[in-house]
Amino acid sequence: MESGLSGKIALVTGASKGIGLAIAQGLAAEGVRVVMSARAEARLHEEAAKIGALAIPADVSQAGEIERLTRETAARAGSPDILIVNAGGPPPGGALAPDDAAWMAAAELTLLSAIRLARACIPGMRQRRWGRIVHVTSTSVLVPIPNLVLSNALRAAVTAFAKTLSTELAPDGITVNSVAPGATDTERIRQLYPDPKALEAAVAKIPAGRLAAPSEVAAAAVFLCSVPAAMITGQTLVVDGGSTGRI
Ligand SMILES: NC(=O)c1ccc[n+]([C@@H]2O[C@H](COP(=O)([O-])OP(=O)(O)OC[C@H]3O[C@@H](n4cnc5c(N)ncnc54)[C@H](OP(=O)(O)O)[C@@H]3O)[C@@H](O)[C@H]2O)c1
Repeated sequence: MESGLSGKIALVTGASKGIGLAIAQGLAAEGVRVVMSARAEARLHEEAAKIGALAIPADVSQAGEIERLTRETAARAGSPDILIVNAGGPPPGGALAPDDAAWMAAAELTLLSAIRLARACIPGMRQRRWGRIVHVTSTSVLVPIPNLVLSNALRAAVTAFAKTLSTELAPDGITVNSVAPGATDTERIRQLYPDPKALEAAVAKIPAGRLAAPSEVAAAAVFLCSVPAAMITGQTLVVDGGSTGRI
């Protein structure tokens, strides 16, 4: 399938490692001019250089940083046709564990980042009457994951925001979707399961019998960005080796 994406401009946040990096690599392979962002500068610059992308460090949990990131992106690469909304996940904890400050911090990182990035990027997409927005969420939007209340609640909110946006933007040729990874082989999964035996037990529950590769999650995101995916909007594409299929 021809993606039709050659020459488009993409902004990918959380792009220095894991799933975000794989999406940046996948888009670059389709001829997209990619702007990659994350907080730690050295790693970001190193990964961006490997694929000829532009690196602009920023912390997406801060409104001012998003304002600077999107302004610099437009000035140095052009107004993005494609926005990939991704970052690290919020810390683990049971339903009543996080205090108000933890809820607010997680909301800034996961929900408000999505809203602020959309606000900044949509006017240009509307002008060109073409755009793709993809949020990286989690299977927790279908089935809450024990001890991850911040992720469970806030990714559900991101999904509802994306669906609301999708109907408003459809007349302008802009699609808004999510990819929902199950357990994927990145640094994040090893932070969540520091004990290798616990990770092994979790993997044993995945019908496919293994973790997803970041590139497999990226393939779903790149497809949703493609020109032929123009009629797919407001959807969540789950990449989990069957984990949610038997629930
Ligand atoms: N891996 C899984 O099994 C899995 C499953 C379901 C959902 N997810 C979700 O998918 C997303 C990506 O996961 P991953 O496994 O690829 O995570 P990862 O390997 O930890 O990578 C996270 C990326 O986001 C960047 N980042 C973190 N906080 C940021 C911030 N405040 N501002 C800007 N960039 C930030 C990180 O770089 P810096 O630290 O340098 O900023 C890094 O580039 C996460 O939201 C995660 O919760 C992952």
